[in-house]
Amino acid sequence: MVDNNKKYIILTWGCQMNEHDSEKMSGILESLGYINTDIKEEADLIIFNTCLVRENAEFKVYGNLGELKSLKKERPELIIAICGCMMQRKEIRDIIKDKYKFVDIIFGTHNIHKLPELLANYNQHTRMIIDVWEDGVEIIEGIPAKRKYSFKAFVNIMYGCNNFCSYCIVPYTRGREKSRAPEDIVNEIKGLAKEGFKEVTLLGQNVNSYGKSLDSKLSFAELLYLINDIEGIERIRFMTSHPKDLSDELINAIKDCSKVCEHIHLPFQAGSDRILKLMNRKYTKEQYLNLVKNIKAKIPNISLTTDIIIGFPGETEEDFLETIDVIKKAEFDSAFTFLYSIRKGTPAANMKEQIPDEIKHKRLKVLLDVLNPISHDNNLKLMNTYQEILVEETSKTDSTVLSGRTRTNKLVHFKGNTDLIGKIVTVKITNTKTWTLEGNIIDEK
Ligand code: SAH
Ligand code: SF4
Ligand code: F3S
Repeated sequence: MVDNNKKYIILTWGCQMNEHDSEKMSGILESLGYINTDIKEEADLIIFNTCLVRENAEFKVYGNLGELKSLKKERPELIIAICGCMMQRKEIRDIIKDKYKFVDIIFGTHNIHKLPELLANYNQHTRMIIDVWEDGVEIIEGIPAKRKYSFKAFVNIMYGCNNFCSYCIVPYTRGREKSRAPEDIVNEIKGLAKEGFKEVTLLGQNVNSYGKSLDSKLSFAELLYLINDIEGIERIRFMTSHPKDLSDELINAIKDCSKVCEHIHLPFQAGSDRILKLMNRKYTKEQYLNLVKNIKAKIPNISLTTDIIIGFPGETEEDFLETIDVIKKAEFDSAFTFLYSIRKGTPAANMKEQIPDEIKHKRLKVLLDVLNPISHDNNLKLMNTYQEILVEETSKTDSTVLSGRTRTNKLVHFKGNTDLIGKIVTVKITNTKTWTLEGNIIDEK
């Protein structure tokens, strides 16, 4: 305990990987005696955990950072730190050094465990400290995490990515793929179960290639069986699955393991084989659709969600129609849709025939007009069914309304008492919308 009563706030952009990194930083800071605050004005330490996956993520960070200038002027003792994926790029660090001179500490995705040292160094020298590692040397175990919820938890099973999809910056910000040892994962989850956690979400950029960097060569499917045996855990989720690595063994594991939820997030990105090749995705439209068919045949109540990129360089109207065709055939429960965003340093950034924004927006509208009714139709099938829900929180607008998720990861609203938060209940679905469901509680487990 060194920094008693000092307050910190962490602002996080990006994916679950970043969210969980922020939970770890909170854990580290609280072990140093820091106290969390939600108000920037009263914080002694402000950390920005950044994302670089698309241009808008990047711009939001610059906007928010600019606003801190006056705070720092008023209170020079305030420490401003910036970390995460943006900081892994030298050209961005240079922008921070040049234009945001009031930033005190810059670090990266591979050395968040060094936060105590960075703070101590800064306190000694009070000049800008920059410490960014190109790649993680080894996996650091045992970082305490202060988790956002007390009943569901993120658990890293691997770090980094080796796939180098041509549009994506992640392999350059998160380094090469590294899997955690199965015993470390299992021990962490056993610990969570003891603390009363009911649900774990296993995190990796491509969980299906889990284990390839390990001597034991344990597969992701085998890991699921191990976790399924942990007493106290009731739900197991995972993301993200790359279609090229989703094996029959894994489909069987999802089917066999009673705790593994019936939901696969399976990004297809684009429907045209020509574009998929340019994206370096390593599967064809037909292979993807066959995979979907196979999954749905083996696990009929599976919910499938996906990521789609619109307007990859050179995408013609014909290519785009192939994307629409996949949406119609795969009948996704929902999809995240992204307009292609140029990421400096990736191969696609140098491709000719970048697509104008107005065409991307036009295609997005067409796509949503196809996708949304399909999502709604899938939800309609759940009318009057009984769903197992893990209750997560109260509605922001009405404190008598609770929300939680089905095993298939659908958000459900229902009336109930706040003491149900963290419990598993049965809800009868009484109304369905495109993105959410409504229902009535039938009983508690
Ligand atoms: N590893 C995961 C997620 C990576 S990032 C996976 O492979 O699915 C999440 C999503 O962001 C990707 O699936 C992709 O759809 C989108 N994305 C990544 N880079 C992008 C870019 N340059 N422009 C637009 N969307 C992008
Ligand atoms: Fe990016 Fe592709 Fe790796 Fe996902 S699999 S993180 S999209 S490079
Ligand atoms: Fe963004 Fe980094 Fe995640 S770029 S999407 S925070 S891995």
